Amino acid sequence: MKIRDCEFELGAVRPVQWPTDGLPEFAFLGRSNVGKSSLLNRLLNRKSLARVSANPGKTREINFYRINESFRFADLPGYGYAQVSKQQRSQFLKMMDTYLLQRIPLSLVIQLVDIRHQPSADDVERHQRLLSLGRAVIVVATKADKLSKSRVQISLRDIQECLHTPVPVLPVSSMKGTGIDELWSYIEQAMGG
Ligand code: GTP
Ligand code: MG
Repeated sequence: MKIRDCEFELGAVRPVQWPTDGLPEFAFLGRSNVGKSSLLNRLLNRKSLARVSANPGKTREINFYRINESFRFADLPGYGYAQVSKQQRSQFLKMMDTYLLQRIPLSLVIQLVDIRHQPSADDVERHQRLLSLGRAVIVVATKADKLSKSRVQISLRDIQECLHTPVPVLPVSSMKGTGIDELWSYIEQAMGG
């Protein structure tokens, strides 16, 4: 994918703030610190377009990025951050659910899990929720550069088994660029081209 232009568009805390022009949208979902912003920056070939929160887990915003005037990335706030209260957590899950349930232009959800760890209960729950909503989803296992090639293969199988999922798990590294072209293929396919 050739990135001609991309810009941070807005951070939304409420559905009324979501962009309304209907451009196809791709959402990045995962635990805090899993590497969402890094992946977004890597895909777009920008060093620091995606905002890295100084206050992890506290961000309630969905950050929208507009690319080539033809599609959008949505960086969803990270879940599973230990420092948030139960009430914050449930508020946050509700907002995310509203987005996943109601967002019409949402074409594909890219769910991130850390390749070095077993998916958390939150990861499994989010994944099952996506499947039950009938959302198109792909799982990417981040930070693949941290494992040897043979460990990567074992880990991918473990992740797929743990998530109880038929969807592919793609290893990526934002640091090394591994898997980025493959991920673009999935995104382009979901765009219908
Ligand atoms: P929140 O916005 O807090 O939810 O985090 P995030 O999911 O956006 O994660 P972020 O991209 O900020 O990355 C978190 C940490 O992981 C940073 O220290 C990154 O440098 C590191 N990281 C991200 N991707 C990779 C990767 O591919 N390889 C390695 N080795 N480190 C990575
Ligand atoms: Mg981030």
